[in-house]
Amino acid sequence: MMVEKRHLILIGFMGTGKTTVGKALAPILELPWVDTDQSLVEQWGFSIAEYFQCYGEASFREAETAKLKELLQSTPSVITTGGGIVLKRENQDLMKKYGWVIHLHADPEEIIRRVRNDLERPLLKGDTRQKVLQLYEERTGKYDFADLTIDTTMRPIEEIVEQIHLFWNKKQV
Ligand code: S3P
Repeated sequence: MMVEKRHLILIGFMGTGKTTVGKALAPILELPWVDTDQSLVEQWGFSIAEYFQCYGEASFREAETAKLKELLQSTPSVITTGGGIVLKRENQDLMKKYGWVIHLHADPEEIIRRVRNDLERPLLKGDTRQKVLQLYEERTGKYDFADLTIDTTMRPIEEIVEQIHLFWNKKQV
């Protein structure tokens, strides 16, 4: 049987700092860092934006769930995820079962500032501001299943990493 709650998983809307925090956190927890999107890109040999363009979002969501399952089955890791991974209840249940789930939150205005010049996020193409506000609204409550929520707005990364480190240590007894 797979040991439960052995990963540290970061979820959150696009631009909340999951990748940045995950990368900094992994060496501190002495765990490898893996990312669902990056791992898919490596597997495919082309970008998320290209995948969306060729196969569409529904197909991406299938691939995302398959990748999540694969990563959850491997050794304990810091797993960072795409912002839409929470859209499927199945993914939520799997993450909560096999890991401590940390939700990184940021105010939508701050998210807009962070993702404004980004071309790699297919869901934000066009009017970025309007897209962020709409998706943010649609996803209200979707991240609430997390074991811990951290507001990253105006907070230095070191502080966020330290808070997660302390949380993780408490859970290791
Ligand atoms: C998505 C977020 C992206 C990526 C894809 C879809 C989403 O990841 O998975 O573009 O639906 O929120 P990031 O949260 O790392 O930007």
